[in-house]
Amino acid sequence: MILDELKKNYIPRHVAVIMDGNGRWAELHGNDRIFGHTQGVDAVRSVVEGAGESGVEYLTLYAFSTENWDRPKDEVNALMSLLVHAIVQETDNLNEKNVKMLAIGNLASLPPDVQLKLSEAVQSTSSNTGLNLILALSYSGRWEILEAVKKIVCKAKNGEVSENQINENMFASHLSTVGIPDPELLIRTSGEYRISNFLLWQIAYSEFYFTPILWPDFRKENLFEAIGDFQRRERRFGKTSEQIRS
Ligand code: FPP
Repeated sequence: MILDELKKNYIPRHVAVIMDGNGRWAELHGNDRIFGHTQGVDAVRSVVEGAGESGVEYLTLYAFSTENWDRPKDEVNALMSLLVHAIVQETDNLNEKNVKMLAIGNLASLPPDVQLKLSEAVQSTSSNTGLNLILALSYSGRWEILEAVKKIVCKAKNGEVSENQINENMFASHLSTVGIPDPELLIRTSGEYRISNFLLWQIAYSEFYFTPILWPDFRKENLFEAIGDFQRRERRFGKTSEQIRS
Protein backbone atom coordinates (compact mmCIF):
# COMPACT_ATOMS: atom_id res chain seq x y z
CA MET A 1 0.00 0.00 0.00
CA ILE A 2 1.24 3.50 -0.72
CA LEU A 3 1.15 6.50 1.58
CA ASP A 4 -1.24 8.49 -0.65
CA GLU A 5 -3.95 5.88 -0.13
CA LEU A 6 -4.15 6.58 3.62
CA LYS A 7 -6.64 9.02 5.17
CA LYS A 8 -4.34 11.79 6.40
CA ASN A 9 -6.77 12.87 9.10
CA TYR A 10 -7.00 9.42 10.72
CA ILE A 11 -3.44 8.29 11.29
CA PRO A 12 -2.85 6.46 14.61
CA ARG A 13 -0.80 8.70 16.90
CA HIS A 14 1.04 5.75 18.40
CA VAL A 15 1.98 2.49 16.67
CA ALA A 16 3.68 -0.30 18.63
CA VAL A 17 5.49 -3.16 16.90
CA ILE A 18 6.53 -6.65 18.00
CA MET A 19 9.33 -7.31 15.53
CA ASP A 20 9.27 -11.09 15.24
CA GLY A 21 10.68 -13.68 12.85
CA ASN A 22 14.35 -12.73 12.52
CA GLY A 23 15.50 -16.24 13.45
CA ARG A 24 13.12 -17.97 11.03
CA TRP A 25 14.06 -15.54 8.25
CA ALA A 26 17.74 -16.42 8.77
CA GLU A 27 16.98 -20.12 8.75
CA LEU A 28 15.00 -19.77 5.50
CA HIS A 29 18.03 -18.04 3.98
CA GLY A 30 20.43 -20.69 5.24
CA ASN A 31 22.10 -18.37 7.70
CA ASP A 32 22.53 -18.08 11.46
CA ARG A 33 20.04 -16.26 13.70
CA ILE A 34 22.34 -13.27 14.18
CA PHE A 35 22.21 -12.59 10.44
CA GLY A 36 18.41 -12.36 10.75
CA HIS A 37 18.74 -9.73 13.49
CA THR A 38 21.26 -7.79 11.37
CA GLN A 39 18.82 -7.76 8.45
CA GLY A 40 16.13 -6.65 10.90
CA VAL A 41 17.87 -3.29 11.19
CA ASP A 42 16.98 -2.50 7.53
CA ALA A 43 13.33 -3.13 8.40
CA VAL A 44 13.64 -0.82 11.43
CA ARG A 45 15.08 1.95 9.22
CA SER A 46 12.29 1.64 6.65
CA VAL A 47 9.51 1.55 9.26
CA VAL A 48 10.93 4.55 11.14
CA GLU A 49 10.98 6.46 7.84
CA GLY A 50 7.44 5.36 6.97
CA ALA A 51 6.10 6.25 10.40
CA GLY A 52 7.55 9.76 10.08
CA GLU A 53 6.20 10.19 6.55
CA SER A 54 2.68 9.09 7.48
CA GLY A 55 2.43 11.38 10.50
CA VAL A 56 2.59 8.76 13.26
CA GLU A 57 3.82 10.62 16.36
CA TYR A 58 5.08 7.70 18.46
CA LEU A 59 6.56 4.42 17.26
CA THR A 60 7.46 1.87 19.94
CA LEU A 61 9.62 -1.07 18.89
CA TYR A 62 10.00 -4.18 21.07
CA ALA A 63 13.73 -4.65 20.52
CA PHE A 64 14.61 -6.83 23.52
CA SER A 65 12.30 -8.32 26.13
CA THR A 66 13.06 -9.27 29.73
CA GLU A 67 12.61 -12.89 28.60
CA ASN A 68 15.15 -12.47 25.76
CA TRP A 69 17.92 -12.58 28.42
CA ASP A 70 17.25 -16.34 28.58
CA ARG A 71 18.40 -16.86 24.97
CA PRO A 72 21.80 -18.49 24.34
CA LYS A 73 24.60 -16.24 25.61
CA ASP A 74 26.09 -15.82 22.12
CA GLU A 75 22.81 -14.56 20.71
CA VAL A 76 22.28 -12.14 23.61
CA ASN A 77 25.83 -10.77 23.20
CA ALA A 78 25.38 -10.45 19.43
CA LEU A 79 22.06 -8.63 19.89
CA MET A 80 23.66 -6.23 22.36
CA SER A 81 26.53 -5.38 20.00
CA LEU A 82 24.10 -5.05 17.12
CA LEU A 83 22.08 -2.59 19.18
CA VAL A 84 25.15 -0.49 20.02
CA HIS A 85 26.26 -0.57 16.40
CA ALA A 86 22.83 0.30 14.98
CA ILE A 87 22.24 3.09 17.51
CA VAL A 88 25.62 4.71 16.78
CA GLN A 89 25.29 4.25 13.03
CA GLU A 90 21.73 5.57 12.80
CA THR A 91 21.95 8.63 15.06
CA ASP A 92 22.87 11.05 12.24
CA ASN A 93 20.10 9.65 10.10
CA LEU A 94 17.61 10.12 12.98
CA ASN A 95 18.74 13.71 13.42
CA GLU A 96 18.36 14.36 9.67
CA LYS A 97 14.82 12.99 9.85
CA ASN A 98 14.02 15.01 13.00
CA VAL A 99 13.38 11.78 14.98
CA LYS A 100 13.63 11.85 18.76
CA MET A 101 14.85 8.61 20.34
CA LEU A 102 13.62 7.42 23.72
CA ALA A 103 14.03 4.14 25.56
CA ILE A 104 11.84 2.25 28.02
CA GLY A 105 12.60 -0.84 30.08
CA ASN A 106 15.00 -1.95 32.75
CA LEU A 107 17.82 0.04 31.16
CA ALA A 108 20.11 -0.41 34.18
CA SER A 109 20.26 -4.13 33.34
CA LEU A 110 21.83 -3.44 29.92
CA PRO A 111 25.60 -3.73 29.46
CA PRO A 112 27.41 -0.44 30.22
CA ASP A 113 28.36 0.23 26.57
CA VAL A 114 24.73 -0.16 25.47
CA GLN A 115 23.59 2.19 28.24
CA LEU A 116 26.21 4.75 27.24
CA LYS A 117 25.52 4.72 23.49
CA LEU A 118 21.79 4.72 24.14
CA SER A 119 21.95 7.75 26.42
CA GLU A 120 24.21 9.55 23.92
CA ALA A 121 21.67 8.92 21.13
CA VAL A 122 18.76 9.98 23.36
CA GLN A 123 20.64 13.15 24.29
CA SER A 124 21.71 13.89 20.71
CA THR A 125 18.15 13.60 19.35
CA SER A 126 16.40 15.17 22.34
CA SER A 127 15.50 18.47 20.67
CA ASN A 128 14.03 16.87 17.53
CA THR A 129 10.34 17.54 17.07
CA GLY A 130 9.23 14.87 14.59
CA LEU A 131 8.55 11.20 15.24
CA ASN A 132 9.23 9.85 18.74
CA LEU A 133 11.00 6.52 18.36
CA ILE A 134 10.71 4.52 21.56
CA LEU A 135 12.94 1.47 21.93
CA ALA A 136 11.67 -1.09 24.43
CA LEU A 137 14.85 -2.70 25.79
CA SER A 138 15.01 -5.26 28.55
CA TYR A 139 11.33 -4.44 28.79
CA SER A 140 8.28 -6.40 29.87
CA GLY A 141 4.79 -5.22 30.67
CA ARG A 142 4.59 -7.10 33.98
CA TRP A 143 7.98 -5.70 35.08
CA GLU A 144 6.76 -2.19 34.30
CA ILE A 145 3.46 -2.65 36.17
CA LEU A 146 5.27 -4.00 39.23
CA GLU A 147 7.68 -1.05 39.14
CA ALA A 148 4.71 1.31 39.13
CA VAL A 149 3.12 -0.54 42.06
CA LYS A 150 6.37 -0.27 44.05
CA LYS A 151 6.61 3.49 43.40
CA ILE A 152 3.01 4.05 44.48
CA VAL A 153 3.38 1.90 47.61
CA CYS A 154 6.47 3.94 48.54
CA LYS A 155 4.55 7.19 48.13
CA ALA A 156 1.65 5.77 50.15
CA LYS A 157 4.03 4.78 52.97
CA ASN A 158 5.45 8.30 53.01
CA GLY A 159 1.95 9.72 53.16
CA GLU A 160 2.28 11.36 49.72
CA VAL A 161 -0.61 9.36 48.26
CA SER A 162 -3.90 8.10 49.64
CA GLU A 163 -6.07 5.25 48.37
CA ASN A 164 -8.71 7.48 46.78
CA GLN A 165 -6.04 9.21 44.66
CA ILE A 166 -5.20 5.95 42.89
CA ASN A 167 -7.00 5.91 39.56
CA GLU A 168 -6.11 4.97 35.96
CA ASN A 169 -4.45 8.28 35.11
CA MET A 170 -2.47 8.33 38.32
CA PHE A 171 -1.33 4.72 37.80
CA ALA A 172 -0.37 5.36 34.17
CA SER A 173 1.73 8.32 35.28
CA HIS A 174 3.99 5.85 37.14
CA LEU A 175 4.65 3.73 34.03
CA SER A 176 7.69 4.22 31.81
CA THR A 177 5.36 5.47 29.07
CA VAL A 178 4.26 8.49 31.13
CA GLY A 179 3.22 11.30 28.79
CA ILE A 180 2.94 8.97 25.78
CA PRO A 181 -0.57 8.21 24.47
CA ASP A 182 -1.62 4.54 24.44
CA PRO A 183 -0.95 2.82 21.10
CA GLU A 184 -4.00 2.77 18.85
CA LEU A 185 -2.37 0.09 16.69
CA LEU A 186 -0.20 -2.88 17.66
CA ILE A 187 1.52 -4.81 14.88
CA ARG A 188 3.11 -8.24 15.25
CA THR A 189 5.01 -9.83 12.39
CA SER A 190 5.83 -13.48 11.60
CA GLY A 191 2.36 -15.00 11.94
CA GLU A 192 2.43 -15.38 15.73
CA TYR A 193 -0.68 -14.34 17.66
CA ARG A 194 0.71 -13.36 21.05
CA ILE A 195 1.40 -10.24 23.10
CA SER A 196 4.56 -11.63 24.76
CA ASN A 197 4.46 -9.29 27.75
CA PHE A 198 4.49 -6.09 25.67
CA LEU A 199 2.80 -2.88 26.91
CA LEU A 200 0.17 -4.85 28.85
CA TRP A 201 -1.43 -1.82 30.49
CA GLN A 202 -1.25 0.44 27.43
CA ILE A 203 -2.87 -1.90 24.86
CA ALA A 204 -6.23 -2.16 26.65
CA TYR A 205 -8.01 -0.70 23.59
CA SER A 206 -5.39 -1.08 20.86
CA GLU A 207 -6.30 -2.57 17.50
CA PHE A 208 -4.15 -5.63 16.75
CA TYR A 209 -2.71 -6.30 13.32
CA PHE A 210 -0.98 -9.61 12.65
CA THR A 211 0.95 -10.33 9.47
CA PRO A 212 2.81 -13.46 8.34
CA ILE A 213 5.67 -11.32 6.99
CA LEU A 214 8.92 -12.04 8.84
CA TRP A 215 10.45 -8.90 10.39
CA PRO A 216 13.52 -8.61 8.08
CA ASP A 217 11.12 -8.46 5.09
CA PHE A 218 8.82 -5.83 6.65
CA ARG A 219 9.00 -2.38 5.01
CA LYS A 220 7.20 0.95 5.25
CA GLU A 221 4.64 -0.20 2.62
CA ASN A 222 3.62 -2.97 5.04
CA LEU A 223 3.26 -0.37 7.79
CA PHE A 224 0.98 1.67 5.49
CA GLU A 225 -1.03 -1.51 4.83
CA ALA A 226 -1.47 -2.01 8.58
CA ILE A 227 -2.52 1.63 9.04
CA GLY A 228 -4.97 1.26 6.11
CA ASP A 229 -6.47 -1.80 7.80
CA PHE A 230 -6.73 0.16 11.07
CA GLN A 231 -8.54 2.98 9.23
CA ARG A 232 -11.21 0.54 8.00
CA ARG A 233 -12.04 -0.65 11.52
CA GLU A 234 -14.68 0.73 13.85
CA ARG A 235 -13.30 1.37 17.34
CA ARG A 236 -16.15 1.06 19.81
CA PHE A 237 -14.43 1.20 23.24
CA GLY A 238 -17.16 -1.01 24.72
CA LYS A 239 -20.00 1.05 23.23
CA THR A 240 -22.45 0.00 20.50
CA SER A 241 -21.90 0.67 16.83
CA GLU A 242 -24.95 3.00 16.84
CA GLN A 243 -23.53 5.10 19.69
CA ILE A 244 -20.24 5.47 17.86
CA ARG A 245 -21.86 6.53 14.58
CA SER A 246 -24.09 9.14 16.17
C1 FPP B 1 12.51 -11.38 17.33
O1 FPP B 1 12.82 -12.33 16.33
C2 FPP B 1 13.45 -10.26 17.30
C3 FPP B 1 14.27 -9.88 18.33
C4 FPP B 1 14.29 -10.56 19.65
C5 FPP B 1 15.23 -8.78 18.19
C6 FPP B 1 14.77 -7.57 17.43
C7 FPP B 1 15.94 -6.75 17.18
C8 FPP B 1 16.26 -6.15 16.01
C9 FPP B 1 15.38 -6.11 14.82
C10 FPP B 1 17.60 -5.51 15.98
C11 FPP B 1 17.69 -4.06 15.81
C12 FPP B 1 16.80 -3.20 16.57
C13 FPP B 1 16.97 -1.87 16.68
C14 FPP B 1 15.91 -1.10 17.35
C15 FPP B 1 18.14 -1.14 16.15
P1 FPP B 1 13.15 -13.82 16.81
O2 FPP B 1 14.61 -13.91 17.03
O3 FPP B 1 12.30 -14.17 17.99
O4 FPP B 1 12.73 -14.66 15.56
P2 FPP B 1 12.15 -16.16 15.55
O5 FPP B 1 10.86 -16.13 16.30
O6 FPP B 1 11.98 -16.44 14.10
O7 FPP B 1 13.18 -17.03 16.20
